[in-house]
Amino acid sequence: MEFDISAERYLDSGRLLSEEEINQIRSMDSVLFGAVGDPRVRPGILERGIIIKLRTELDLFMNLRPSWSLPFSSTKFNIAVARENTEEFYIGFGGKLEKSPTTFSYSSQAWKGNVKISGDTDDDVYFNVGMMSRRNTERYFEMVCDLADERKVKEVTVVDKANAVPGIYDIWRETGKRVLGKHGIGPSFMYGDAVAYGLVMKPDRFNLIAASNLYGDILSDLCSGLMGGLGFTPSGNYGSGRIALFEPVHGSAPDIAGKGVANPIGTILSSSMMLKHLGMKKESRIIREAVDLTISQGIRTFDIGGSDGTSKVTQAIMKNIERKIIANDV
Ligand code: IPM
Ligand code: MG
Repeated sequence: MEFDISAERYLDSGRLLSEEEINQIRSMDSVLFGAVGDPRVRPGILERGIIIKLRTELDLFMNLRPSWSLPFSSTKFNIAVARENTEEFYIGFGGKLEKSPTTFSYSSQAWKGNVKISGDTDDDVYFNVGMMSRRNTERYFEMVCDLADERKVKEVTVVDKANAVPGIYDIWRETGKRVLGKHGIGPSFMYGDAVAYGLVMKPDRFNLIAASNLYGDILSDLCSGLMGGLGFTPSGNYGSGRIALFEPVHGSAPDIAGKGVANPIGTILSSSMMLKHLGMKKESRIIREAVDLTISQGIRTFDIGGSDGTSKVTQAIMKNIERKIIANDV
């Protein structure tokens, strides 16, 4: 089933993601999402009204973003960023502080409530609150353990900024240590800035990175850069139920819209992650290997300085998928 939930529709009718659409999506097994963002719309409207809403409403608390060296990558590495996906600074709780009391409302599984805030100021003061809850952090780290098993690693880099922002990161660290420890996995706690530095200097020392929401957002872009470009990285958003949502890490790239030069690989690899989630492991592997083969055959997308457009790349990958199916080469 296809949904037209877009900037175009928002500009025409003011509609973002409706309750009815969310309920229809809830009954699906999985979602393949395009990208969101449009310069004609103020930042935050489409993002919060569509993709962040989908992640929170569907309770997809983990965003897995794998990246690995391609033939043209600057270094050898294989990293998965497991990003916490619904809490911390993404909860959208905040706004402008007024002299007269203003009520801010928040509602999630962790807590619902109204907070009345006023402040003595003659300045323009804005604030945002970061929130982490024990239950969500626990289930998130349990999923990190599953990923560590799958990747056969006994150590996970756990990212935060506990030295500057205690409170939320206290429960993050405490829970991470306890849950990972219970499964015999050692957390290696690192601050977000040091991880960014380490990734640039020595990416091969990392394997599985468990990052809070905002750090996961930033570090997964960094890892895409190591891979060669944002256009290559896939992602999967998972929760405790069957439904999961797959999307490329890149944005909507409005500057190249309609030119036929967008890199389709992030989306194609996201569909490979989707098939794996749906139990089609072999099919998933065929897609991933067909992408690798296509790149090793010399196909180069525009974002890395090549001249192969969206349809040429897609056709080449499809041909390799067909070949692999016929040769049963998986
Ligand atoms: C991403 C994007 C989103 C995010 C935006 C579009 C809200 O950057 O998926 O990484 O910050 O999560
Ligand atoms: Mg991002």
